[in-house]
Amino acid sequence: MAAVFRDGLLKGNAAFVTGGGSGIGLRMAERFAQQGAAVVLAGRNPERLDAAASAIRASGGTAEPAPIDVRDYAATEQALQVAHDKFGSIGILVCAAAGNFPAPVLGMSANGFKAVIDIDVLGTFNTCRAAHRFLKKPGASIISISASHAQGPIAGQSHVCAGKAGVELLTKTLAVEWGPDGIRCNCITPGPTDDTEGMRRLAPSEDSRRQVEKTVPLRRFGTRDELADLALFLCSDAASYITGGIYHCDGGHALTRPAFLST
Ligand code: COA
Repeated sequence: MAAVFRDGLLKGNAAFVTGGGSGIGLRMAERFAQQGAAVVLAGRNPERLDAAASAIRASGGTAEPAPIDVRDYAATEQALQVAHDKFGSIGILVCAAAGNFPAPVLGMSANGFKAVIDIDVLGTFNTCRAAHRFLKKPGASIISISASHAQGPIAGQSHVCAGKAGVELLTKTLAVEWGPDGIRCNCITPGPTDDTEGMRRLAPSEDSRRQVEKTVPLRRFGTRDELADLALFLCSDAASYITGGIYHCDGGHALTRPAFLST
């Protein structure tokens, strides 16, 4: 879909993407870079971030790594300041950093639960709060990555269910508080998506993949490109009156949404 947008759509803009070293966050950053934005890839693994930023630069884009843990407010704020000093106008923020492991409530410690809540909810709060002063202008866009976990219970995923429900309401609250500042705030809800750490963990075998595919009305996994196209639309002027929304790009999975994990 990127081809339906005019080239250089995001020229002069900068995007800060948490969870930008891999998976969905990285593909969104790559799409933004293709469209002319300078991108900052934030995450916990410096080697992965360096490799991803180098690959974007090798394709003619502008990219820098920002090795931070979004649970650390001061480090996140500092990384945003560095991004602003280097690239100027940050108009796009993607909160894609997320934690997950399959375990029932009795199979995880309080610290295990907290790790995911802190990455998902506190991390989104930290990133958005620290970015507000850079984003505060008409046309700015925040995209948080949610999951169908926010809609109801999934066994073995209590931390992610609680976390993503929090991310969605946090994002909607930001849409209300920051709309007057010109900042639009939306969520993207992926379904089962190929080539992601989440699906490698949640559907590790061919058999489990086939089971998952049967639960998707479009009968296939989605791609990271399809999610990146939605992100590009949401942060473009084509979406200039869209805020506070939850947008599914999931082949209809949210409509059936079986609890595909059992414990
Ligand atoms: N089952 C039960 N508990 C687990 C676990 C598992 N598979 N994996 C981690 N934990 C627990 C740890 O035991 C620890 O609790 P404890 O201190 O009581 O033992 C707690 O989680 C924190 O673990 P730690 O090793 O300090 O890791 P962390 O704070 O860096 O975060 C993850 C751990 C698993 C949340 C994080 O590394 C992660 O999410 N990685 C995967 C990323 C991913 O899948 N992204 C896609 C999301 S859809």
